[in-house]
Amino acid sequence: MKSYPTLEQTIGNTPLVRLQRIPGAANAARGNVILGKLEGNNPAGSVKDRPALSMITRAEARGEIKPGDTLIEATSGNTGIGLALVAAIRGYRMLLIMPDNLSLERRAAMTAYGAELILTPASEGGMEYARDLALKMQAEGKGKVLDQFANPDNPLAHFESTGPEIWRDTGGEVTHFVSAMGTTGTIMGVSRYLKSQNPAIQVVGAQPTEGSQIPGIRKWPEAYLPAIFDPAAVDRTESVSQADAEAMARRLAAEEGIFAGISSAGALVAALRVAEELSNATIVFIVCDRGDRYLSTGVFN
Ligand SMILES: Cc1ncc(COP(=O)(O)O)c(C=O)c1O
Repeated sequence: MKSYPTLEQTIGNTPLVRLQRIPGAANAARGNVILGKLEGNNPAGSVKDRPALSMITRAEARGEIKPGDTLIEATSGNTGIGLALVAAIRGYRMLLIMPDNLSLERRAAMTAYGAELILTPASEGGMEYARDLALKMQAEGKGKVLDQFANPDNPLAHFESTGPEIWRDTGGEVTHFVSAMGTTGTIMGVSRYLKSQNPAIQVVGAQPTEGSQIPGIRKWPEAYLPAIFDPAAVDRTESVSQADAEAMARRLAAEEGIFAGISSAGALVAALRVAEELSNATIVFIVCDRGDRYLSTGVFN
């Protein structure tokens, strides 16, 4: 009998596509190729489906959680949607804690999958406050926190899937990898895998400039730096302004047909800066999610 995949098994193996217009004639003349990895093609719509599946299935395999248990997570959006999907498939109750200024599409997607939301006042300190509240609820016995910021199963998902897919789909030609940094799970896991194949591969992290708001990514204050973050895995960081990232998100849609989120466009801004100094480079950047998740913010109007 023919075997068919379950929805869970369709997470990962996302397309890697070459940009045709934005890199321009100068990059073409220097032999630079810029490739976007389309993580918005995952079933719940973002790169976060990978760590969501990894954190839940590995905790289950270790006997730390079982279907019917309550899981808790502080999340700025995409992780919550990914976790809500996996919790729905596997039969967990999912409590998601987030600041109340996040886009309505995100909240609605989480509740569609059956998750329960706890909105914290953004004025109380945004994600830092949400992360503290998650740990407090766990201490009170209200459920298990997966803690994407400290959970090694987050970068492990990228070490075992995203990294190998990039290596395979570039036939080992990748020279640079660029990712926006939130929990840093993507950049940690992919960096470790790619450098294990070729230590010369350069890894570039994009973060928002001081005062810029780019959903999903942060320049963390020292006390809230993710525990999974190892500065040795990132060769260079580039700061990107909200205005530049938003303008690039509009260009990605209009010039390349890639309708992506703001952090994805921020990674491309960083990739183009790096490309200015290079010849014969194969640069891969992560397209974390899709633009429809940001429609209500007006950024595409
Ligand atoms: C829109 C968006 N971009 C980028 C990231 C960063 O990914 P990572 O947490 O793996 O650093 C996230 C993570 O939540 C995100 O939601």
